[in-house]
Order: sequence, then structure tokens, then C-alpha cells
Amino acid sequence: MSDSTKLIQSNEYHDVIEGKRVKTVNPPVYNGSTVLLEKYEDMVLARSGKYDGICYGTNRLPTQRAFEETLRELEGGHLTRAFQSGISAIINTLFAFTESGDHIILCENVYGPTARFCNKILSGYNVEATFAPASAGTDIAEHIKKNTKLIFLESPGSNTFEIQDIPAITAIARERNVITVLDNTWATPLYLKPLQLGVDISIQSVSKYISGHSDILLGAITVNEKYSDKFDNFYSTMEIFAPPYDCYLALRGLKTLPLRLKQHEISAIKVARWLETIDLVDKVIHPALQTHPQHHIWRRDFAGSSGLFAFTFKEDYSDEKIASFINSLDLFGIGFSWGGFKSLITAGKYKRVFGSEYSGKAVIRLNIGLEDSNDLIKDLQKGLQALE
Ligand SMILES: Cc1ncc(COP(=O)(O)O)c(C=O)c1O
Repeated sequence: MSDSTKLIQSNEYHDVIEGKRVKTVNPPVYNGSTVLLEKYEDMVLARSGKYDGICYGTNRLPTQRAFEETLRELEGGHLTRAFQSGISAIINTLFAFTESGDHIILCENVYGPTARFCNKILSGYNVEATFAPASAGTDIAEHIKKNTKLIFLESPGSNTFEIQDIPAITAIARERNVITVLDNTWATPLYLKPLQLGVDISIQSVSKYISGHSDILLGAITVNEKYSDKFDNFYSTMEIFAPPYDCYLALRGLKTLPLRLKQHEISAIKVARWLETIDLVDKVIHPALQTHPQHHIWRRDFAGSSGLFAFTFKEDYSDEKIASFINSLDLFGIGFSWGGFKSLITAGKYKRVFGSEYSGKAVIRLNIGLEDSNDLIKDLQKGLQALE
């Protein structure tokens, strides 16, 4: 059965009201701190950690569990847990699997706050983080030290879209008993199955495509069998919690994810191909274009592309010029995040220790939403006129 059929079929819920079954296609939102136990003996068991049911809100009520279970199946993992945001999922994963004296490797195109957390906070716990090239493959071996515990990947990176050779990295990591974690937000589990490529832990910022409507912050991680007990313990000991209503919305988002993602993909490729024909434009950085430096790896490992990509201009425009381009757009919102129905634009310069053809250049990033792509192209045309 395909992922889209499985997503639609999951999560039916029924209750019995006045002796009659009432069945809905979505689970209700369970809100609760207190959970009433049937008898005092259950409370005694709960106190000693031996009660095998749900005894408090932080044990994850049915709405959170329904979302987690659906995502777990889609990722093909052993355990999925939800968090209040994507960055919270990332931070807690790094906390759970590292300890004082460990070394971790980050591919240098990771989401900025991921690197910032390692540099500013994790270092205070005596965990050293160093960087590897954004397009790492077998060369990852050169970065592994005796005390390397974990390798953190993001493929493609969400600003400059370099792709890592995931199977090559995970093969080396397994030999050396190093945990691999991948931020899979760009592709979602529909277009990339990291655990099938040997990754141990897949992370989603659910705030992006899965929820799809830019109205919640939520994150999730999916762990393979080897690491699931350790993470389950960590999650429950830390009493981490994801809001039930946000899990409900995320579950709702999952149902239409295949359709939305397909449309994001089609429109983004159309806009990217159009940008390739524009004289002012230098590079269009989109993994599905043959000109992308790791296009062959994308073709091998991914089942599709989403709606986030970038481009650069031939000329090194001043900040004022870039501002006049962006400010003249009507349909592209000026805003962070991505994966929602509205098209968005950002611009930034990214430093890369291992070098990048975009170093020092303004990288214009487009989140192609669900508007008609012809309208988006007209809007960008207007912006380019403002540049000229
Ligand atoms: C690649 C990537 N991972 C993680 C995050 C963090 O997600 P959240 O905004 O849900 O904390 C973001 C946010 O922009 C992101 O772009």
C-alpha cells in the first residue's frame, strides 16, 4: 500500500455514546494533566513506575500517540516522539545521546540554531562539536575521532541545499559505532526514508510541510530499534511534552501532505527552470536540476523534491538593491520558516569553512507555496524589474 493510502486509512476513532458506536475519521483532542485511575492499587503501581497505562498528561495522551504512531510508520522507525518545536527535537536528541568528553560532527550546512546550540550550550557540558563539509561522503572518515559519538546531517541543507552521501556516511559510522542523525525536514519521510539508508535517528520540524499551514510549532524524532529504549527513557525522564492540539493539527496535515508536497514540487521546479532562463541570475540551487552539484545523489536517494530552493545573482548587488527586489514583491511574504501554503522569500550570506561557490554571495531563498506558479513568476518578474 502506498504512503498516501496508509495516511488516509490511519487514525479512525470510535467511542460509545448512549450505547451506540460513534465513529469519526479523526481522533478527538485529548487535553489533560490529570488522568483518573480506576483504583488506588493503580496509583501505587504508577508511583513505583510499574503501571503500564497512561497515568498523567506527560505520558502522552491518545492524540499525541496517534500523531507519533502515524509518523513512525511513515518514517519506518521503531519509536517516534513529538516535541514543542523542531529545534526542541534537535536539542533533546543531542542531549540524549551525548555526554561529557564526547565529540560530535555537524555537516556545516545544518540549520543555524542547531550549530548555535552546540557551540553555545553543548560545549558547556564538555561536548566538542566540529564541522564536516556540507556535501560530505566517504571523506567523513577524516573527521571521526576516537571519541566521536554522533554525526549530525541535514540533507539538503535548508539554505544552500548541499546533499550528503548518506549511505556512504552511515556505512562508515556503523563500522565505528557512531550514531547518525539526519534533519529530514526538507524531503519529509515521503521523499526520503533516512532509516532505510542506515541513519539511526530522523528529525522533522513538523512546523514545516507536515503541518503545512504555518500555524503551529512542532517537532518529532523517529529512532531505529537500536536506540529506541535509550531515547524512550530520556523522553519520559525529561517529561518532554508536545501540545495535544498541535499534534491533532499535525496529524490532520499528514493526511494531505502527499498532495501538497507534490504541488510544491511541481511549482518549485517550474519557477526554478524559469529562473534559469533569466539573464541576471547566476546559479539556481535546486537538487532536482541537473546543474546541482549533487544532483546524482539526489536522484539515487530521494523520491522527489519539495518547494524550497535558492538562487544567486551574477552581480554582487548592494543590500539596498536586494531590499528593493524583495520589497517590490506582492505574493512572496518576507518571513522565516517554510513548508506552508504561502510563498516566502529570504536572503542571506553563508560562510563555509570548507568552501562553497556561494560564499560571500547573497543567496535568495524561495519557499514556493500553493499559489499558481504563473502568478509567482509574474511577481518575481516585477521584482527583477525593480533591480534593473
Ligand atoms: C532544516 C530545519 N530544521 C529545523 C528547524 C527548526 O524547526 P522549528 O521552527 O519547528 O523549531 C528549521 C526551522 O526553520 C529548519 O529550517
